[in-house]
Amino acid sequence: MSSPLAIAIPSIQVPKHPVWPHLGPEEHGALKARIKALLAERDAVLVAHYYTDGDLQELAEETGGYVADSLEMARFGSESPASTLVVCGVRFMGETAKILNPEKRVLMPDLAATCSLDESCPADLFGAFCDQHPDHVVVVYANTSAAVKARADWVVTSSIALPVVEHLHAQGRPILWAPDKHLGHYVERVTGAEMLLWPGACVVHEEFKGFALDRVRRLHPQAAVLVHPESPDEVVDQADVVGSTTQLIKAVMDMPNPEFIVATDEGIFWKMHQLAPGKKLIAAPTAGTGATCESCAHCPWMAMNALQNLEQALIHGAPEIQIDPAIRERARLPIQRMLDFARQRGIGGRKT
Ligand code: 13P
Ligand code: SF4
Repeated sequence: MSSPLAIAIPSIQVPKHPVWPHLGPEEHGALKARIKALLAERDAVLVAHYYTDGDLQELAEETGGYVADSLEMARFGSESPASTLVVCGVRFMGETAKILNPEKRVLMPDLAATCSLDESCPADLFGAFCDQHPDHVVVVYANTSAAVKARADWVVTSSIALPVVEHLHAQGRPILWAPDKHLGHYVERVTGAEMLLWPGACVVHEEFKGFALDRVRRLHPQAAVLVHPESPDEVVDQADVVGSTTQLIKAVMDMPNPEFIVATDEGIFWKMHQLAPGKKLIAAPTAGTGATCESCAHCPWMAMNALQNLEQALIHGAPEIQIDPAIRERARLPIQRMLDFARQRGIGGRKT
């Protein structure tokens, strides 16, 4: 199997978790009511990722919006009749919504909500690398900028990476994969495809520790271990289920185990508790010596989404996602290829 490439990627500035002022029940209720009124006035709908605060997920569901993984978030924007999409998540999710729905206004609470994978893969460096490997089919993870997607043949999310790479591998095509080395390595191991791996990583999932997980498993022998494939090998190797956020939620609902050790962002617990209220959820251990992520299993960029800045975005109609039309049109091709593939294979669809 290949090792990640020795490319000098930028060092990632991981922000501190924002501290949102505590709201008492009355203030909280009033703020939610104002946002509901603004959503209706502005013909806007909320599309939230499972890692965002439970308040935002609840509000999305109460107002006809949607809470999902990155593949389903991409699909929902086009299905909704609303003229404004308010994406609560990270920037690449807002950009994907805009690429697929250029006629719609796409707002986000904070455009600084990026992602360490996106940051690790600047378009110029990536483009130069693609130029050196013209014979390779270029597969990029959805957690990338529009400009990087514009260089790709395929975009994939963690829900669909395995079948897409299996499909390309069966055609005998060499693959250039970016930016997540852990997900890429997992896909290589399962499919047997030989891939050139960009050396990016998710700063949140990289903090899950194999030795500490092993200890927790011994303390909870009845627990099933659920792991997002952005985690390192030593964590993935201990998993009962490896999958995207939607696939991990489904596992909690479907598996008979009374307890689950969950190695992904803890924001997902809100949906897991909602859909499987009787199950005990245990956060997989993070950090320890050499930790680089201060957030401990909660993405600091996802945490930039809150009721307070959501209200401001709706009041001001900003910040809005803008993408150069030429990049947008080119980036649409590999995303559409993924969505067409998902439809043909019956992958995903609204289930939760
Ligand atoms: P999913 O596509 O599984 O929702 O993952 C997105 C993500 O950013 C995980 O860190
Ligand atoms: Fe990016 Fe990791 Fe945050 Fe997901 S959890 S948005 S991969 S930094």
